[in-house]
Amino acid sequence: MARASSNFVCQSCGAATSKWSGRCESCGEWNSIVEEEPLSTGPAGKVLGNVRGRSAKLVDLSHPEDPPPRTACAISELDRVLGGGLVPGSAILVGGDPGIGKSTLLLQAAAAFAKSGLSVIYASGEEASAQVRMRARRLGLEQAPVRLAAETNLRDILTTLEKEKPQLVIVDSIQTMWSDNVTSAPGSVAQVRAAAHELTSFAKSRNTSVIMVGHVTKDGQIAGPRVVEHMVDTVLYFEGERGHQFRILRSVKNRFGPADEIGVFEMTGAGLSEVGNPSALFLSERGTPAPGSVVFSGIEGTRPVLVELQALVAPTPHSQPRRSVVGWDGSRLAMILAVLEARCGIPFAGLDVYLNVAGGMKISEPAADLAVAAALLSAREDVALPPETVVFGEISLSGALRPVAQSENRLKEAQKLGFSTAILPRGGKAKAKGMTLTEMPDLATVVGEVFGAG
Ligand code: TYD
Ligand code: MG
Repeated sequence: MARASSNFVCQSCGAATSKWSGRCESCGEWNSIVEEEPLSTGPAGKVLGNVRGRSAKLVDLSHPEDPPPRTACAISELDRVLGGGLVPGSAILVGGDPGIGKSTLLLQAAAAFAKSGLSVIYASGEEASAQVRMRARRLGLEQAPVRLAAETNLRDILTTLEKEKPQLVIVDSIQTMWSDNVTSAPGSVAQVRAAAHELTSFAKSRNTSVIMVGHVTKDGQIAGPRVVEHMVDTVLYFEGERGHQFRILRSVKNRFGPADEIGVFEMTGAGLSEVGNPSALFLSERGTPAPGSVVFSGIEGTRPVLVELQALVAPTPHSQPRRSVVGWDGSRLAMILAVLEARCGIPFAGLDVYLNVAGGMKISEPAADLAVAAALLSAREDVALPPETVVFGEISLSGALRPVAQSENRLKEAQKLGFSTAILPRGGKAKAKGMTLTEMPDLATVVGEVFGAG
């Protein structure tokens, strides 16, 4: 039986219950509920809003303080993802797989912001100061005016910060920090939540920016409760495939700038270097156009980015054909296969389908529908598109094509990279001088006119 003083909290969504159960009622996750010490509550027995409370400081909405003064650093890809530089007093969470390069990125960021004039402390709970210095030497940053602390006790860290009053603190990682107010082990939900809460409150009250590193679980979420993501102002994910040198810093939440903005980096022997023109990089591995390969002109945040989609369609030896996707949504692929089958008479039964976004990119735009369909058709019919062709457009369940936002920017980017033809939905008003635009009303027309099938 649950003790009256205990509290059971879901690791995944942070919902609290009074008794343990195998499945969280609120998010449906299995085996995610653990027992925790209850959070301290205020004095019991009195209604809130009595004389004991302090009244909050009120300011007018029209207070002339805004916009917040931001600090930009020399890493412009990072500045853009932050929404144009670092906002003082902001709390930022950077998540990513182990070994993807979070510590490398943040050490470089620490040095860059220090060079821009901020006082910076880098607190590492994972590596000793000597190890961080060794990394700095390797990155050519040993002269940067950054101070290091190898510390895991939150109380000691906060005491240090109170004394030193830095403008930026980097905490690597939130999972290694422990607060002696909380009895559970470092890395547990209660500890992660307490540490994130303390650091976020510190950021707000002292106007110090705090960047926290968060480890990511196997299914791609920041380990610890989702409530940490709600606490902070900005959540960035550092993504990439181990085998590739590309790394993408993506903002999934940003109170001070656009979400879904990306910064592209390349991991080199001397740390991360910025990629100013990601399209050229993503297409650099493309050989001569083969069946199944299609270039999609996408928009990531505020920028157009060209990426190659690769499809392979092969007869299956199994009764249940495979549908395998890397970098795109599996259910969206199922929808496009269904539209091809139902509206265009192109069956995929008995065929394995593999779809891959080249370079480790992840795409979530519906504008990629038509490019995916084209890649599937091209693979299935064994017909390569002409080499200088880009494709974009959304497909509706009826098989009609819908124009997408920012068509003109997509075309401009394609033209800049030497593409001369675009296949896109009819009805968008995009123009591009010097480019041949093949505007299509529906998917069946694409099947017939571009691939001579159906
Ligand atoms: P790291 O920043 O330690 O990853 P994280 O903090 O996300 O766990 O990066 C680790 C990887 O990066 C490691 O496998 C080696 C590679 N790396 C380079 O390729 N070049 C470099 O200059 C550095 C510092 C690391
Ligand atoms: Mg690290």
